[in-house]
Amino acid sequence: MKKLLLTVTALFLGSALYAQNIEEKVESLLKEMTLEEKIGQMTQFTSSGDVTGPTLRGNVEKEVKAGNVGSLFNAFTASYTRKLQKMAVEETRLGIPLLFGYDVIHGHRTLFPIPLGEASSFDLEAMEEAARIAAVEASAEGIHWTFAPMVDVSRDPRWGRVMEGAGEDTYYNNLVAKARVKGFQGDDLSKENTILACAKHFLAYGAPIAGRDYNTVDMSLQTLHEVYLPPFKATVDAGVETFMTSFNEINGVPSTANPYLFKDILRDQWGFDGMVVTDYTAINELVPHGTAKDLAHAGVQALKAGIDMDMEGAVFLETLKESVEKGDVTEEEINVAVRRILTLKHKLGLFEDPYRYSDEEREARVVLSKEHKQAARKIARKSIVLLKNDNQVLPLDLEKQTKIAAIGPLVKSKKDVLGAWKAKGSPKDAKSLFEGLKGATKGKAELLYAKGCDMKSDDKSGFAEAIEVANQSDVVVLAIGEPRTISGEAKSRSDITIPGVQTELLEALKETGKPIVVVLMNGRPLALEKEDELADAILETWHLGTMAGPAIADVIFGKYNPGGKLPMTFPRNVGQVPIYYNAKNTGRPFDPAQPSGYKSNYLDVPNSPLYPFGYGLSYTTFEYGEITLSSDKMTDEAITASIEVTNTGNYDGEEVVQMYIQDVIGKSTRPLKELKGFEKVFIKKGETKKITFTIEKEALTYFRWDMSEGVEAGDFNVYIGTNSDDVKSATFNLTKDYEASKNYNPIGSK
Ligand code: BGC
Repeated sequence: MKKLLLTVTALFLGSALYAQNIEEKVESLLKEMTLEEKIGQMTQFTSSGDVTGPTLRGNVEKEVKAGNVGSLFNAFTASYTRKLQKMAVEETRLGIPLLFGYDVIHGHRTLFPIPLGEASSFDLEAMEEAARIAAVEASAEGIHWTFAPMVDVSRDPRWGRVMEGAGEDTYYNNLVAKARVKGFQGDDLSKENTILACAKHFLAYGAPIAGRDYNTVDMSLQTLHEVYLPPFKATVDAGVETFMTSFNEINGVPSTANPYLFKDILRDQWGFDGMVVTDYTAINELVPHGTAKDLAHAGVQALKAGIDMDMEGAVFLETLKESVEKGDVTEEEINVAVRRILTLKHKLGLFEDPYRYSDEEREARVVLSKEHKQAARKIARKSIVLLKNDNQVLPLDLEKQTKIAAIGPLVKSKKDVLGAWKAKGSPKDAKSLFEGLKGATKGKAELLYAKGCDMKSDDKSGFAEAIEVANQSDVVVLAIGEPRTISGEAKSRSDITIPGVQTELLEALKETGKPIVVVLMNGRPLALEKEDELADAILETWHLGTMAGPAIADVIFGKYNPGGKLPMTFPRNVGQVPIYYNAKNTGRPFDPAQPSGYKSNYLDVPNSPLYPFGYGLSYTTFEYGEITLSSDKMTDEAITASIEVTNTGNYDGEEVVQMYIQDVIGKSTRPLKELKGFEKVFIKKGETKKITFTIEKEALTYFRWDMSEGVEAGDFNVYIGTNSDDVKSATFNLTKDYEASKNYNPIGSK
């Protein structure tokens, strides 16, 4: 015990000394720096390696040598980052190393499923592992910093960037955010295979009006605090080192100019001491937003809001010096930002060895390694959601189905499986569904192929061949969906059905009478009423990354029993959007069992979604018992809720057991259900497992009209089940009110 205490004390003192050491080094460097050099550190440009927005600056190498740059992004490979680093270290007066950033969103060269897909796994360890591997590959190519995770909650599938997050639920987003930050940053930033993570986009970028990217956000403070802020807080708790601003305004104030977000909430309330970077040219955009009269004004607003680094816009570079001279900002305000940037460079060990990340030997060894591909396949199959499986069409049985028709514009695609934000993932390294099927059926079944149609055009000339191929086969595997290019940034859609004539191809194939397994590839929830009607089985495979093909084949042939669940509601049609499970009851709730007029419903579509949040089938079946509470009264102590789940089918399988809570009566209205716990369990066929959730009263607090936070005495319903719609229930009573200790500053109150 004594030894342990001594070790802990030594570790604590060690890290305190280390921090003090860095502080001293930063201060002494700061004293040597000119104002121009400081502003250079606050400037980030894209290199010519990749482009993720409009480029404003031509010759970045010239800018580096002139000391105008503290960070570059979109530069990769060990040799190229080394070359650029050498310019900064050897050709600038102070030789301050560059920080290399990149959007390593779901893998660097070995790609994992798009984040929304990966979130369907409900497997936090898997998500952490994927982020870890991404960091290992990216760091070997000289990258120090990823602009991930995106932790924007989103309830609107029209928005193209839903593919980049963990879906509509806040509690789940919190956990995924932590897992991803831990994966990227590891446990020690000074190691050469860990990289800085970046929580983005602060704040509420996922809630643009009408799902149109970059559009205005206008919402209540309660929703902002309850739904949109917590995942960001979770990243701070997980030790995230950087934050990114969002492009949007919230309730009239553009985020990049909002001190309440970056100073009051992020730094004062949450204690964040890392660095804040803008989104791409977001300072410049304060002018069209209409809060700044010109770029100089915009630069002052951003600095005063607590922004440290200007991505791509060169506003700091071109205007801050004059703003200091005019007295609009002080040099000390600039020092604050520069200190944070230099501290990060120290934490990464760049001052000791600026080239430690750009390691050609490591790059050759780790990038696209066998282990990484194996992990990508494992995580890809965990991310697949079985949406429908009539008559147990799946898994296919190679003894019986000896002729398989692989049809559809996505069957042979190696590009689209990579998804949006593919970093340096390349189609040549990816495995298509066709390759996956080929590998699995080799020597056992005949694989026929027809493309059928394109993804977007309305040309049906390929239908005849597809029908012929289907007629010759025992079963059709039809891969349809979205190309990778219509989800991601600036890829909003007003129609979220499958584009082109792909659904008509399904209709035509249905006529053959052959069983049809639809393999969906897409970057957002789609409106799938027709497909749901026509297909015998549907697998939602998202864009699964490098190992998509083999992973899907593993599921199709039963080598792996799918257990994924939807992290976002699938609407029946786009008119229902935004639709999410944790909605309110309203004063006139609609009851389909007793339909009558003047209720909160549509005339032309049910209120219910096509597939609810948390939904996903398995090749086996699970039966839920009743909920047992440790007590039906809660005072100061937590209570538990348990349930027995039995695998009643013919396969071993995994189930995501989900617990939701409803505060029945509150001072303010509460959602009908809120996810407060889940557990992914493996249950052998015939076996029963007991799952126990702990309910703490802290999990019940919420924000009221006056922005006080707490929870009131009264009844709470506990729901446990296989998805947000299919649950068992029980009730407990909280015996006294409970006020949370902290009151948040309403945004804009100062
Ligand atoms: C995106 C960010 C991204 C940045 C750099 C922006 O357009 O909104 O998420 O990190 O570009 O590529």
